[in-house]
Formats: sequence, structure tokens, C-alpha cells
Amino acid sequence: MAPCGAAAPLLLLLLVLRPASAGLSGYFGTKSRYEEVNPHLVRDPLSLGPGAIESPPATCAPLQLRAVLRHGTRYPTAGQVRRLGELHARLLRRPSEPAACPAAAALAAWPMWYEESLDGRLAPQGRRDMEQLARRLAARFPALFAARRRLALASSSKHRCLQSGAAFRRGLGPDLSLGGDEVEVQVNDSLMRFFDHCAKFVALVEENDAAMCQVSAFKEGPEMKKVLEKVASALCLPVEELNADLVQVAFLTCSYELAIKNVTSPWCSLFTEEDAKVLEYLNDLKQYWKRGYGYDINSRSSCILFQDIFQHLDKAVEESKSSKPISSPLIVQVGHAETLQPLLALMGFFKDKEPLLASNFARQTHRKFRSGRIVPYAANLVFVLYHCDHVNASREEYQVQMLLNERPMSFHHSNETISTYADLKDYYRDILENCHFKEECELPRVNVTAVDEL
Ligand SMILES: *[C@@H]1O[C@H](CO)[C@@H](O)[C@H](O)[C@H]1NC(C)=O
Ligand SMILES: *[C@@H]1O[C@H](CO)[C@@H](O)[C@H](O)[C@H]1NC(C)=O
Ligand SMILES: *[C@@H]1O[C@H](CO)[C@@H](O)[C@H](O)[C@H]1NC(C)=O
Ligand SMILES: *[C@@H]1O[C@H](CO)[C@@H](O)[C@H](O)[C@H]1NC(C)=O
Ligand SMILES: *[C@@H]1O[C@H](CO)[C@@H](O)[C@H](O)[C@H]1NC(C)=O
Repeated sequence: MAPCGAAAPLLLLLLVLRPASAGLSGYFGTKSRYEEVNPHLVRDPLSLGPGAIESPPATCAPLQLRAVLRHGTRYPTAGQVRRLGELHARLLRRPSEPAACPAAAALAAWPMWYEESLDGRLAPQGRRDMEQLARRLAARFPALFAARRRLALASSSKHRCLQSGAAFRRGLGPDLSLGGDEVEVQVNDSLMRFFDHCAKFVALVEENDAAMCQVSAFKEGPEMKKVLEKVASALCLPVEELNADLVQVAFLTCSYELAIKNVTSPWCSLFTEEDAKVLEYLNDLKQYWKRGYGYDINSRSSCILFQDIFQHLDKAVEESKSSKPISSPLIVQVGHAETLQPLLALMGFFKDKEPLLASNFARQTHRKFRSGRIVPYAANLVFVLYHCDHVNASREEYQVQMLLNERPMSFHHSNETISTYADLKDYYRDILENCHFKEECELPRVNVTAVDEL
């Protein structure tokens, strides 16, 4: 990056920096576009891509599909807009010497168009994410999405989720039945926002600053310090005027402008790919300690949703065995990254050998736990239950496939992408039998606030 005081013409600087910023989009963490995990969608948003190749045996027919979705692309939250406003105002207050500090001048001239009232709402791109996802799922499972099948649609109470559910529904067209319910989308926060209802999680993780000590330590650590110094120098601000939160909001703005408006914003030019890796790690650290493997209660609080999934699978198997029509062939539930991440952790996916710590950024370069790959906007975890007609009648008839973001996942117990339902239940027997939301989420009687008691 050009040092401050170098009289680089503004235009030239942007030309030089723009191509580099194109490489940042793989590091946006939970603010990643869905296209980052499925790049083929950039060319054709309705194509099924590589995941379409691995289909179950021809003798299997899908009985039930359960999809747990994250809402589509959203606007920044009010808090993020406020912080961006502060940073932008700080740049506007600078003495105007564009030649001396082109990056700061370019950002001061950037039109601040976000308003606090947008507060995390679904963006127009988010509606498209959902409509297109619905159309791809319908194309992948035509028998399940056939006209007049019943669709059960539930959502978190958040506006962006309700809107996402409605957009998903629209994507399917008018032929599906909602089972006579007048309400199109049923709000169910006890399933979709289980974390809010889990007293132990709220007290010991959500509202306990000490629980995020690795995140705070990383914000003050050497990797972030380097990024801070570079950004301060590019903006010709004293480094004391910046902090990790302000730098993070600049990086977030780069991600929002790409996801919402499909443009490479001048905010991106503050960062190199190396900086982006550090900021991605900061985002992943937070997800890890607040939603992932950091504390057991993060994932245990999702067992209410996990068990609900298996109850519906059980019911479909029972109905199939007694030759009854399947009462819930399609269940679609819209929640948050915070809904999916704990559920995937409960099931043991994306677990690294070592925990994510403030001190092991370098050793975690090839970590599995990368939020942008797991829960981008419109992330989706799909369970498909099949009934299979085997030549060998002694084989298990019911099989399950899991897809994350439309790609088949390998089950841990077999390393295969399809499992008998019996084997799957057996593998997760302990969670199915011994994880009880109410007990897991009860606050311990003793006065515990220390992190090591979690
Ligand atoms: C939410 O889902 C659970 C599990 O299916 C169910 O027991 C509960 O009644 C639902 N709540 C609402 C408000 O529909
Ligand atoms: C986003 O921008 C790229 C490059 O300018 C363009 O090729 C692509 O079609 C755009 N995508 C959408 C959905 O508008
Ligand atoms: C049928 O499947 C069972 C269990 O997988 C196996 O032991 C048996 O050999 C199979 N029989 C035939 C005829 O393939
Ligand atoms: C699955 O594959 C991994 C890596 O190849 C291996 O370490 C693990 O033991 C395998 N698990 C099973 C159940 O085969
Ligand atoms: C628990 O600890 C807090 C802070 O240390 C204290 O204010 C509170 O009185 C304690 N409550 C009990 C029941 O001991």
C-alpha cells in the first residue's frame, strides 16, 4: 500500500488496489455470500452444480425432506451502522488533503447510505437467495415438491427470517399446499432461537464477557495490531484513534457492499488478503466460543431442534411402515447462523483437533471451523429420508442423506454420504436419549460466573 504522503493520484491507487480486493470475499465469515461455497451459481443461479452428481440409488424414493435454513443476505444491524457512521464521520473531520491521503479522501467521499432503521433486515438479494434456493431444492427433489404436497414452514420471529420464509415459499410457485393453515409461516422461536431460551447459555456465555476472553485477547494481539497499524497508516489517522471494532466494521462494510449491492467498495481497498485472514479468524473465534465447540452449552442448547428433527423422521418411518401417507413430507424452517452452527457442533461436524485460541492463528490456517464455508447467508442443512426397495430384502429400507449448502455430507460413523436410518440413530443415541433442553439449560444453583465452570 502506498505510504501516506506519497502523492499517488486517487484514480491510479484505486485501479491498483481493486483487483487485490477481489480476493477478500473468501474471508467474510458469517457475512459471506452463498456463492462463495457454490461458485457455479454465479454463472447460473438455478444450476445444481457438483452436488447433483451424488444421488442415492435409483431404488430409493424420498419420503421426507427437512431443511433448516439461515435467512438470506441481510443489511447491517443498527449497531454496525452506528459504528460505520462514527468511522465515516471521523474521516470527514480530517483536514482535506486528498493528495496526501488518497484512501481517506476516497472513503470520506463514499456516500454513507446505510441507516440504522435497516437494522438487519432482509436485503433484496436475500429474497433472491431464498427464491433461487427453493427452486433448486424443488428441481433436486421433484417428487417431494410435486404439486399439492404439504409444506410446513416455520421461522424465527425475526423479520429477516419471516421474509426469507415468504421468499422461499414464493420461489416454489403457487401449487404447493400449506395444509389448510391460513398462516403461511409459523413462528417458532423455541426451535429456531433456542439460544435465547436457554438460561444457562444466556448467563454464562451470551452475557458473560469473560466467556469471550479469547476473542478479546485476539483483538489486542500482535496479528490485529499489525492490521490496525496498516489501516491507520492508510487513513493517516493516529493508531490510537482506531480499534479492532472500527477496523472490523470497515471490513464488514466491504463484505456488505459486495453481498447487498454486488460492488467492490472502496472500503475493501484498506485490506490485503493477509489482513482478511486475520479478520476472518476474529469472526471465527467469536463463532467458535459463542456458537461452536468453545463451550458445551452452545451445542447442547440445540438438542431441542435435533430431537425435533428425529421425531419427524421417526413419524415418517412409522407412517411409511403402516402404508399411510406421510403427514409432513416437507418441513422448512428458517433461522440464523446461530441456529445452524450449534446444531452442526452437536453432531460433531467441523471439529478441529485443537481449539481456536487467540494464540494459535498460524496453526489454525487449515482449520475446518471456517464460518464462511459453513454458514454463509442462505446456508442450509437438509435431511432427506428415503425408502429403498432392495433386492436383498434383509437390508434396512430407510436411509438418510444430509446436505449442507446443497452438498452431500459424509457421516462420521461411516464416511459415506448415505446412511441407514438405524445406524444414524444409533450413532447419535446418546444425544437423542440423554440431552434434555430443560435440564441442560438450567442454571447451576451455585453462584457460578467463572468461565472454567462451563
Ligand atoms: C414449536 O415446535 C415445537 C416442536 O415441534 C412444538 O412442540 C411447539 O408447539 C411449537 N411452538 C409453536 C409456537 O408452534
Ligand atoms: C455482479 O457483478 C459481476 C461483475 O460486475 C457481474 O458479472 C454479475 O453478473 C453481477 N451479478 C449480479 C447477480 O448482478
Ligand atoms: C443380504 O444382506 C445381508 C446383510 O447385509 C447379507 O448378510 C447377505 O449376505 C445378503 N444376501 C444376499 C443374497 O446378498
Ligand atoms: C473416516 O475417514 C477418516 C480420514 O480418512 C479416518 O480417519 C476415519 O477413521 C474414518 N472413519 C470411519 C468410521 O471409517
Ligand atoms: C452471586 O454473585 C454475585 C456477584 O459476585 C453477587 O452479587 C450475588 O449476590 C451472588 N448471589 C448469591 C445467591 O450468592
